[in-house]
Amino acid sequence: MVNKVIKVSAPGKIILSGEHSVVYGQPAILATINKRLYVEIKKGTGPIKIITDENPELADYALSKIQKMINRKINHLKITIISEIPINHGLGSSAALAVALTGGLFRWFGKKWNKNLINQIAFEIEKKQHGNPSGADNSIATFGKMIIFQKGKIKSLRIPKFPKHPKLPNFIYLDSGPAIESTGEMVSHVSSLVSRVTYRKIIKELGQTTLRFIQTLNAPNSPNALILLLSQNQRLLEDLGVVGQKAKKIAREIENLGGAAKICGAGGLKKGSGILLCYHQSPQGLLNFAQKNNLKNYQLKLGAEGLRNENGVPQNQT
Ligand code: PMV
Repeated sequence: MVNKVIKVSAPGKIILSGEHSVVYGQPAILATINKRLYVEIKKGTGPIKIITDENPELADYALSKIQKMINRKINHLKITIISEIPINHGLGSSAALAVALTGGLFRWFGKKWNKNLINQIAFEIEKKQHGNPSGADNSIATFGKMIIFQKGKIKSLRIPKFPKHPKLPNFIYLDSGPAIESTGEMVSHVSSLVSRVTYRKIIKELGQTTLRFIQTLNAPNSPNALILLLSQNQRLLEDLGVVGQKAKKIAREIENLGGAAKICGAGGLKKGSGILLCYHQSPQGLLNFAQKNNLKNYQLKLGAEGLRNENGVPQNQT
């Protein structure tokens, strides 16, 4: 086809509950956000040319992995990657890259749009970035909306909407700053601890917190129950050693105001720990707190579509 241009996108995500413990087989709840990464593929001259501010090494690695896994020679292409997802904030930018690039190349080569297979390849790419990933990030970026992920199994969750169903709590997303550690470093930090009984207990308790969180979403308890759950979750993550001083301080101040906040990704110790998922019965109180403390407030909306074809429905869509 002359002037063929393929465009696909994949969303970022947040982890409502279960980061790190999900690596050890506990459940996690994840939801997509309204920030996406876009991949455009067209014919180029000479060797492959990737244009991205995102993570050029990861994009290169992803290409070589995809090439091997789909057994096609990838050459003479111009690939442009544009992302709205902030990096190093626990918002799943690397998973979105792996999923969108794989999906885009599936379309370029006219391969069946098999999301299970795309997700599997993206998981292999994620291993470069995360070392020993759970597979949760690539799964939510592929399948979208809200899921419970456990041991490779994906279960869709209905996004509670008002008035038919109870509404999702009115979360606020404040920025504790980018982590300087990679997800892989944070994951391997935790893995160096889990041989000890104390840390294994924390992982188990994190899993129980996630189960209670699922109940809260299905049949919302009082706001106080949610606040307790979020702050317990945050304390456990702090005990696991994945939260830096700045994020801890913000969480304590929000607790003092009667709310709660937790990190929602791999975290970070030396500097920022990424986005904080915050809740208070009075959202305005939290917004005032953010403004007073100069904290960026991300306007995130949960439940966006997963991997998406941006220029028409692909052939053989499953
Ligand atoms: O910060 P992120 O988006 O890379 O979160 C990774 C989530 C972890 O549970 C820490 C790792 C994983 O593979 O599940």
